[in-house]
Amino acid sequence: MQSSIRPLRSVLYVPAANEKAMAKSGALDCDGVVYDLEDAVAPGAKAQAREALKAYFDANPTSGKQRIIRINSGGTEWGAEDFRAAVACRPEAILLPKVEHPQTILDAAAELDRLGLDDVQIWAMIETPLAIVNIRDIARLGKMAGSRLECFVIGTNDLAKETGVPLPLGRSTLKHWLLQVVIHARAFGLQVLDGVFNDFGDQDGFEAECAEGAVMGFDGKTLIHPAQIAVANQAFAPSPFAIAEAERIVLAYGQPENANKGVITIDGKMVERLHLDIARKTLAKAG
Ligand code: COA
Ligand code: MG
Repeated sequence: MQSSIRPLRSVLYVPAANEKAMAKSGALDCDGVVYDLEDAVAPGAKAQAREALKAYFDANPTSGKQRIIRINSGGTEWGAEDFRAAVACRPEAILLPKVEHPQTILDAAAELDRLGLDDVQIWAMIETPLAIVNIRDIARLGKMAGSRLECFVIGTNDLAKETGVPLPLGRSTLKHWLLQVVIHARAFGLQVLDGVFNDFGDQDGFEAECAEGAVMGFDGKTLIHPAQIAVANQAFAPSPFAIAEAERIVLAYGQPENANKGVITIDGKMVERLHLDIARKTLAKAG
């Protein structure tokens, strides 16, 4: 069940094996950080990464942003120990990789229940063909009390690997599958984040992909490098134009002559009360 309305425009992956990057993460201007024990950590470095992560959270018990820990899946040799290490850090959420069935989330939620950790949420990576095929069953947990499911995170690199659709050119193909995830997230009250853009030196390409993700309906983008934060923050926030338009709509409906009107005209355009709802949401997001 979604419990947060905080923005997630920019969510940066930080490998837990990289102590220098972890130390930097607290001061960066992103909305969230995913401390990664999975793909970004080599098999031989898993134990050291868990220890570094625990030391980092012990030294930095809070930060001004959402903190999430991605663990290896329960089916791997690292999954159980990662889960123990993650809960010991008390992050706001644990990100489960390669989720394909709702039961994976329900099992993790039951374990968190057993540990009495009421404030740790669950995020799910959607990054395999079977996850897309099963997306309705997984997303329904968003409306199920106690499931703890709060956010979907797209894993474009794994999706490309599993489908054989090469990135970045294949993004136009991937888009059809990603939109399925977005609409299911919206239907069941979940947040949803776009996948990463690997070529962190290509600012123009990144800007274009952020703009595309924003119009696809994503709440924000997952990032791999600090140089990507500012662009994502801008792309997934309401534009100055949208804010000005929202202010005009709220102002117009505030006029006594419009108090009982369903539909009005502003700048030659039809505006209905549903647009007032959208305008209020835009202003809340901008604030
Ligand atoms: N989080 C925090 N700091 C980071 C960072 C990250 N994800 N990526 C880079 N930095 C820091 C570096 O430590 C470096 O700091 P310094 O100037 O104090 O030395 C600075 O930003 C510039 O880094 P740069 O030299 O441009 O990149 P790099 O070669 O050090 O790292 C990557 C490149 C891709 C290896 C690195 O960005 C990374 O590991 N990203 C995350 C990968 C990941 O988590 N993948 C899994 C999910 S897809
Ligand atoms: Mg992955």
